[in-house]
Amino acid sequence: MRRTKVAAILRDTEYGKEVNVKGWVRTRRGNKFVNFIALNDGSSIHNLQIVADVPKFSEELIKRITTGSAISVTGVLAESSGSGQSVEVQATNIEVIGDCNADEYPLQPKKHSLEFLRDIAHLRFRTNIFGAITRVRHSMIFAVHKFFSEKGFYNIHTPIITASDAEGAGEMFRVTTLDVNNIPKTEDGIVDFSQDFFGKSTNLTVSGQLEGELAALAMSEIYTFGPTFRAENSNTARHLAEFWMIEPEMAFYDLDDNMDLAEEFTKYLLNYALDNCKEDLEFLSNRQQEEEKNKKAEDRSMELIEKLKFVVENDYVRLTYSEAIDILMNSKPHKKNKFQYPITGFGSDLQAEHERYLVEKHFKKPVILTDYPMSIKAFYMKQSDDGRTVRAMDVLFPQIGEIIGGSQREESYDKLLERMRVLDLPEKEMYWYLDTRRFGSVPHSGFGLGFERLMLFVSGMGNIRDVIPFPRTPKNAEF
Ligand code: 4AD
Ligand code: MG
Repeated sequence: MRRTKVAAILRDTEYGKEVNVKGWVRTRRGNKFVNFIALNDGSSIHNLQIVADVPKFSEELIKRITTGSAISVTGVLAESSGSGQSVEVQATNIEVIGDCNADEYPLQPKKHSLEFLRDIAHLRFRTNIFGAITRVRHSMIFAVHKFFSEKGFYNIHTPIITASDAEGAGEMFRVTTLDVNNIPKTEDGIVDFSQDFFGKSTNLTVSGQLEGELAALAMSEIYTFGPTFRAENSNTARHLAEFWMIEPEMAFYDLDDNMDLAEEFTKYLLNYALDNCKEDLEFLSNRQQEEEKNKKAEDRSMELIEKLKFVVENDYVRLTYSEAIDILMNSKPHKKNKFQYPITGFGSDLQAEHERYLVEKHFKKPVILTDYPMSIKAFYMKQSDDGRTVRAMDVLFPQIGEIIGGSQREESYDKLLERMRVLDLPEKEMYWYLDTRRFGSVPHSGFGLGFERLMLFVSGMGNIRDVIPFPRTPKNAEF
């Protein structure tokens, strides 16, 4: 008999028909006459209730139906009289596919802390919370491709191993096949990368942007969606050493077009979650409220679904970096010396605490900041006529701070080359990037959305380690 997934059975109303279902047991309870088994196969936040008339089955079989065991059940679909579910399956045959020793199984039918679950990330998919996050994450991946495909953007795979540092921040992981215990050196005593696999020094990419630009300057509108790697030693709840980034790049777009796209894109994703992940969002919302119930009212987050709707229904505030600095300089936390990183004026790099002040306290809406100082932004950004700012944009979200970073790109060969020289970038090695500005250069723009930052916002989770299956962070590469 063909297996039906739990999600499909829960929607079915053809009572009396025979079904087969397979999954993992969450709980078994009952008495010597009847047992109720909660079965989950990952397809729904809700478990399917299996009703087993105990005398119909051997005692030995019933004992093997423990939390964590995998079973196959054939039975009759029935309207449920119990509360909390509409249907149940009255079992006629139960088979244990995989036993699970309840004494050794780390997941008990009770609430575990998120920290504990991180230590058993190989098993946490089997919890309600990671089931919900996994399904929402899948929906968001799908929605990203749907959005761009419907707009005529092409998906480009950019390289993961690269010889260039796109962001110029020097936070790269080295890729090498050299024997690290016996590194070949040149006569001058420096590492001889000509003997390395690629014949040069290579790293894991921090961004697909530079290659994305090459594609956009032929295909008009493209996007990448790939893993990116940053060896920044930031042990925060918003940073990963390996994260996924979506980077659209568009020819003939100026910064305003870029901001419009970023706003439309993020709203589309949130709407998609509201329309397609309702049950999981409700579960995640309850989880968050439960977690925050001991907090003071003013420290509690807005209810998750209400929060997503609020962002979708309101315009993002757009202002320049300089205007934001003025607001921060006049803010209470600045005057009372409450910021951990004091703002000194134009040129100060904004930290999460400043971004969150602007979004959560001042505007109470997502904010797009533009026109940052040239000195704190990457070399490729379009230089403004004022000689000190670039056409950068950061999209800032409540609870998250920066969720998107982007810019209009410098399309002038001379200006780009001059900037690369000031920053001492290897212009010879980056000839391919400079070539785009020599052969049919056009104004163009793009941005990068941190996928896990988006997931934090959509799920209401507090730590980025809990929205990616296997987080990579300083001193942690388990599983
Ligand atoms: O602002 P970033 O560094 O921009 C770029 O990489 C550009 N090349 C994007 C572009 O214009 N095509 O990173 C983009 C986004 C950030 O806004 C943030 O959401 C996320 O990537 N991000 C991280 N997410 C998790 N962990 C980290 N360590 C992150 N660093 C950046
Ligand atoms: Mg950034």
